[in-house]
Amino acid sequence: MWERVNANFRLTDEQIRRFRDVGFVVLDRITGDEEVERLRGIFDRLFATSAGRDRGRQFDLAGTDEEGRPPVLPQILNPVEFAPELAETQFRVAALAIARQLLGPEAEPWFEHAILKPPGYGAPTPWHQDEAHRSDGGVDYEQVSIWMPLQEATAENGCMQFIPKSHLGPVLAHRSPGNDPRVMALECIGGFDGANSVLCPLPPGGATVHHARTLHQAGANTSGIPRRAYILAFRGKVTPNPAFEGYRWNAEKTTAAQARGKAWENRGGAAGRLVRRAGAFVARVRDKAAGLLRG
Ligand code: NI
Repeated sequence: MWERVNANFRLTDEQIRRFRDVGFVVLDRITGDEEVERLRGIFDRLFATSAGRDRGRQFDLAGTDEEGRPPVLPQILNPVEFAPELAETQFRVAALAIARQLLGPEAEPWFEHAILKPPGYGAPTPWHQDEAHRSDGGVDYEQVSIWMPLQEATAENGCMQFIPKSHLGPVLAHRSPGNDPRVMALECIGGFDGANSVLCPLPPGGATVHHARTLHQAGANTSGIPRRAYILAFRGKVTPNPAFEGYRWNAEKTTAAQARGKAWENRGGAAGRLVRRAGAFVARVRDKAAGLLRG
C-alpha cells in the first residue's frame, strides 16, 4: 500500500503554506511499518560495526570522539554509501517528491545522515540552524531536511523541537558547543527565544520537514530505548553568491573525524587518491543514469 501512496506523495496546499509561514511541517506518516523495521535493522548494523568511522564518516556529533570512548551522539554521514539498499527506500521517493514541491523541480538529494541517540545517555542536540553547517562558499540555495524516526520519537527520547518563523531571519551566530572546536556539532549563540518552541513527537515512520534556517534542537535520550533518526536533505536551485565564503565557526573546527577523513583520503598516496576519485566519478555517473532511468 505504501509503495503506491509514496510514489504520489503530495503535501496539501495548507501544509505548503505552513512550511513557508512557520518553517516546518509535521507528517504522521511518510513510509510504512515494514520499511521502518527494515531500516532499524540496517541502522543497528551500521552503528554496531562502526561503518565509515575509519574514513571520518561515522563520528560523535556531541563529544570529542576519542578512540575507545563511547560516543554520546553517534552519527553517520551518507549512510547509503555503507548500505546501498538505503538507495531504494519508499522514504526516499516520498521525500524527494516533497522537496520538489517545496523547492521547485530542480530540487535534488544533497546529503543524508543517520543519528543514534543511545538509551539513557544520548546527548541533546543543541539549538542550531542547519544552514550554519554550510562550508561550500560561492553559491546559494534553499535546503530542506526531512527527519524520520525509526521508533516513536518523544520528549523523553529526544524528538525534534522547532522555533516557528525562525527561518524568516538570517543565519545567526553559532559556535562549537562549549567553544570546543573538537566537537562537530554547532550551537546557536545568536539572539533567539526558545519560549514558544514547538515539540514534535512522532510515531515511527512519521516525519518532520524543516527549512535549513529553522532553529531546532532535540533533547537528550532519557528513555530506555535507542532513538534512531534518518534524515534526508535536499537543495533547490543553486545560484552564484561570491560574497559567501563559509562560516568562521566551521573553519575553526579541528575534529577527530576530519583527521580520520584526511588519513583515509591519503591512503596509498597520490595513486590511491586517483583510484578513489575515479571510483567516485564512476559511481556518480551510474547514479545519474539510474536517476534518469527512474525518471
Ligand atoms: Ni539540524
